[in-house]
Amino acid sequence: MLCERYAPNTLNSMIGNRGTLDRLLEFGTAVQKGRRPKPLMLYGPSGTGKTAAAHALAYSYGFVLLELNASDYRDVETLKRVLIPATRSRGLFSKTILILLDEIDELSKKFDTGAESTILNVVGKSMQPILLTANDYWDPKISFLRNHVERLEFRRVPDEQIFLLLKKIARFENGSISDEIARGIARRCNGDVRSAVNDLEAMLGASPELFEHLGIRDTKIEIFGVLDKIFGSSNFDIARNAVMRSNVDLGMLMEWVSENISKRYIAKETRSRAYENLSAASRFYEKASRTNYYGYLRYASVLLSSGVSLSGNGSISMLRQYTFPQHIRRLSATKRERLSIGGIASRLSPILHSSRKEISNNYLPYFRLIVERAMKSSGEAEVLSSIERHSGLMKEDVDAILSYYHDRT
Ligand SMILES: Nc1ncnc2c1ncn2[C@@H]1O[C@H](COP(=O)(O)OP(=O)(O)O)[C@@H](O)[C@H]1O
Ligand SMILES: [Mg+2]
Repeated sequence: MLCERYAPNTLNSMIGNRGTLDRLLEFGTAVQKGRRPKPLMLYGPSGTGKTAAAHALAYSYGFVLLELNASDYRDVETLKRVLIPATRSRGLFSKTILILLDEIDELSKKFDTGAESTILNVVGKSMQPILLTANDYWDPKISFLRNHVERLEFRRVPDEQIFLLLKKIARFENGSISDEIARGIARRCNGDVRSAVNDLEAMLGASPELFEHLGIRDTKIEIFGVLDKIFGSSNFDIARNAVMRSNVDLGMLMEWVSENISKRYIAKETRSRAYENLSAASRFYEKASRTNYYGYLRYASVLLSSGVSLSGNGSISMLRQYTFPQHIRRLSATKRERLSIGGIASRLSPILHSSRKEISNNYLPYFRLIVERAMKSSGEAEVLSSIERHSGLMKEDVDAILSYYHDRT
């Protein structure tokens, strides 16, 4: 993952929040001089670099990092076993141990009240330096810590700096990304560097030709936004409005949703509910195109947006990373070639025992005339199915032939 590969090693290489990072440097220097500063609580939106900053600090000052996170707070015994000795000892070879209580606001009263007093004890008395992180400093669950920590805010990182980081990473990865797309990603991520880097990774995976071909050079970013609303909201109106207001084609969106349900939804029941809604949506979608009654599209749209959205109940993967639909990726990779006259002629070549050139110059023009006439007398469906049986050519091939030679005669 790019996020891991480009995790900052030093506080100076991080973007945004300069003053905050300087304060952390002071903290590190004080610890190095043997002082024991008041624990810092790093707080702010996710993806702004709180955890990364703690790691970078330990790395650049040579502290041993002892990191605990959400799942550890549920088990007081582990908490005590790990924390109590660490707070007393001077560490192995008398190295400083930096204790990181990551995402402390995930602490849940429900599990065990012993956790709270253990943590308070450590934060109050530890001989070792302590950093804590939280999304929301004002969360009542962690109000018991307020008198014992100094708060240090991480704000959303400005678009422009994220943009520059994305360009830099793309360069290192030897991938090209247009300024326009990089800006679009940066804007969409709303100050969350992690999401931005994850989106970049998805974009670098898809070839530029693919975007061009699908005509979604600009709309891919829009698709991400719509997917966020569908998977992230669990809300009828938010999801439906996101789909209605976007310019994303419903069939295309269906491919994206289908590809990404298992990426964003974690729980089995959630996934299966989502797939049920998706398949109901696709039935209405097909019905609409079969009957030309576009009223069905409304049902398809609601099932796809609100239906899938309401399948979620909060347990979604926080990684806002989407995969390009395999189906479209495959189709588009070969589509241009398949639909070129040269491509069609070479598929016919073994059947007709003639060269590509011979076929495209001498057979196909007549093929077009015959097919058009036959369609008038026997109907399009009949002719197409007969052609498919005999030559393997599909409707899109025939369409390509008809229009190619139509323009030329
Ligand atoms: N300010 C930043 N500068 C550079 N990279 C960042 C920054 N913030 C986040 N990242 C990238 O995003 C990843 C996740 O950030 P993280 O520190 O875990 O966010 P948080 O703990 O605030 O949710 C990092 O590993 C890094 O790749
Ligand atoms: Mg974190």
